[in-house]
Amino acid sequence: MNQPDEGTENEWDTTDYDEGHSFVFEYGEGVVDLLEPKTGERVLDLGCGTGHLADRIAGSGADVVGLDSSAEMISEARESYPECRFVHGDARDFSFSKPFDAVFSNAALHWVSEQDAVLDSITDALRPDGRFVAEFGGTGNVATILDAVRDVAADRGYDIENPWYFPSVGEYTAKLEAHGFEVRYATLFDRPTELDGGPDGLSSWLGMFGDGLLAPIPDGEQRAVVSAVEDSLRDDLFEDGTWTADYRRLRVIAVNEAE
Ligand code: BEZ
Repeated sequence: MNQPDEGTENEWDTTDYDEGHSFVFEYGEGVVDLLEPKTGERVLDLGCGTGHLADRIAGSGADVVGLDSSAEMISEARESYPECRFVHGDARDFSFSKPFDAVFSNAALHWVSEQDAVLDSITDALRPDGRFVAEFGGTGNVATILDAVRDVAADRGYDIENPWYFPSVGEYTAKLEAHGFEVRYATLFDRPTELDGGPDGLSSWLGMFGDGLLAPIPDGEQRAVVSAVEDSLRDDLFEDGTWTADYRRLRVIAVNEAE
């Protein structure tokens, strides 16, 4: 999913996303298990990316619509999975004429700081008693990487802010309840995640996902900053030729209580 806060379309390299960061949807298969999709159910995959999980969900016999704010992702998803429906749209402001039995989301919602608007749209899209099943970055997600980027950038006079939304269980479940959901399950857990790309894994991750994070740093200095970040993190996050990111995931299942 792109970064709609900026009000601009972030361009994704979908091949690099699929081939170099496949752990994103591979880990998402566990969230599909949590969804327990059933034949004939109508499911919205919010932030569907290139459509792999929408296809997985459709494999259970559900009728799936995928929505993503990246035109490149949607175009790739349509090409790969012509039997599913994919829609280019904004998680903060979407609507469908027919209600969904479930809204599913994997590794997407941390891109959207206006989470109240997202939850408004989800509630409107769900039938009464419909479920919302999601996983995304929770509090403390990639904190080691964020701190290192902040420190290296600060040494050069740049102020880095966390561009992502990583709430705690308490913050997010309160938000869900305020939006008329009954929270059935919520958990925060560490998921150290090995990055593809061997010695280039961290720079490749920052290249794929770090545009917002590195935005205050002029283009001409970013390579040097990334290299200094690698130096500062090598002892902690690099072992046997592989970088590991300190992912922490928040998972929720909540039921729409609105009439
Ligand atoms: C995540 O999946 O946790 C994530 C991905 C990209 C940037 C930040 C977090």
